[in-house]
Amino acid sequence: MRSYNNLASFLLVSVVTYLLTPVCGKPVTNPVSSRDNDVIKPKVFIIDMFTPEAEVWYDIPEFDILAQNITIPGFSPLFPDAHCTSDGSICQLITGEAEINAASTMSALVYSGVFDLTTTYFLIAGIAGVSPKVATIGSVTFARFAVQVALQYELDAREKPLDFPTGYVPQGSFSPDQYPQSIYGTEVFELNSDLRTIAVNFAKTATLNDSAAAQELRALYASVPAYALGAAPPAVTECDTTTSDVQWSGALLAEAFENTTSLFTNGTAVYCSNQQEDNATLEVLLRATLAGLVDFSRIIVMRTATAFDRQYNGETAAANLFGDAPGFEPSVLNIYLAGVKVVEGISNGWEKVFEQGIRPTNYIGDIFGSLGGEPNFGPGSILGGRSLPATAASAS
Ligand SMILES: *[C@@H]1O[C@H](CO)[C@@H](O)[C@H](O)[C@H]1NC(C)=O
Ligand SMILES: *[C@@H]1O[C@H](CO)[C@@H](O)[C@H](O)[C@H]1NC(C)=O
Ligand SMILES: *[C@@H]1O[C@H](CO)[C@@H](O)[C@H](O)[C@H]1NC(C)=O
Ligand SMILES: *[C@@H]1O[C@H](CO)[C@@H](O)[C@H](O)[C@H]1NC(C)=O
Ligand SMILES: *[C@@H]1O[C@H](CO)[C@@H](O)[C@H](O)[C@H]1NC(C)=O
Repeated sequence: MRSYNNLASFLLVSVVTYLLTPVCGKPVTNPVSSRDNDVIKPKVFIIDMFTPEAEVWYDIPEFDILAQNITIPGFSPLFPDAHCTSDGSICQLITGEAEINAASTMSALVYSGVFDLTTTYFLIAGIAGVSPKVATIGSVTFARFAVQVALQYELDAREKPLDFPTGYVPQGSFSPDQYPQSIYGTEVFELNSDLRTIAVNFAKTATLNDSAAAQELRALYASVPAYALGAAPPAVTECDTTTSDVQWSGALLAEAFENTTSLFTNGTAVYCSNQQEDNATLEVLLRATLAGLVDFSRIIVMRTATAFDRQYNGETAAANLFGDAPGFEPSVLNIYLAGVKVVEGISNGWEKVFEQGIRPTNYIGDIFGSLGGEPNFGPGSILGGRSLPATAASAS
């Protein structure tokens, strides 16, 4: 999640969730062994990061995702259950926020043995901060690239060399504009662009929510021509996402991370949204693909825009961070309004289209080329274009 400014009510929600969980959750004593003859094979798994993103999927007319609660060892103590429809075709979990929670929960899921995820579509469905250059609060964005922008060296800007435009420097490099020389492998993930197009077209059939307060904030961005899309009504947009544990605000960091996104992807990605989890989730799903448990070509990253990443003309960066977030309510509602079209589209087209998968025509995977093929960014495949051996072959 990102920019959930109302800390008091967030804490209340978390505490209430925590207190209610043992009461509401089905007391599954040993979920793995009791279910091992009864593996659930979801068509769609919805990945949310905190309670408000999850609750919009409850009490909806389309399906009852609270029909089954399954406690999974290793999930967040705040969110110990996976939730599924009674037939197991649609499931949901809450990772907890930021990179460590996302990676831990997703690892617990894929290695639990409770689910067969080999043909499952993952819909990462959360809120995010948004660039007014590309989209606006309330918009629904679908990413092809996810970039871990804070995986860098950092100098406090007050102590940076005078000729550096930012205090962030890619790891192993000596200036902000030099491609990272020390690569961890999670810097960039590229997703199935053909699947994204299909998801976007499903989402475009939704009528998005908006509010008067969101419209008032948007209007304040109209005076800067570069922010025309920030001042325009919310829409479904294709643009890319950045992951950072640090929730940042302001035009200078925004420009620095725009540049990082462009640098890391060799100019291909268009930065628009920032969040705290996706590269962690994607790294887990990449490793699970190599283990034959998940199909990396079946991942959709949908982020709805809750707050601007930078101030409007005349506002301060701090006011943007600490001020009201009128985009919060519409952005949370739009997770459901747009997301349910994607879930239904996949479910309804299962036999004809989605069960066999959407073959990607672009490179998919990480910066190392772990899944095979040549990344169109970074220094090139470390495997000469082949996939990693052994466990890779059985990914379907
Ligand atoms: C699943 O848990 C939710 C609360 O998280 C509860 O409302 C629902 O009734 C539970 N479902 C079952 C089948 O127990
Ligand atoms: C994070 O994931 C995005 C989207 O999959 C990718 O474009 C980006 O390069 C990744 N960044 C890092 C640092 O892993
Ligand atoms: C947005 O959702 C709120 C809360 O459900 C509702 O009151 C409002 O009418 C909706 N607005 C639009 C434009 O759909
Ligand atoms: C971003 O890149 C542009 C173009 O190379 C450069 O002029 C600007 O100083 C950079 N800004 C930051 C904050 O890195
Ligand atoms: C991406 O840019 C870096 C540095 O500018 C370069 O070394 C690398 O070859 C480029 N990768 C691709 C796939 O074009």
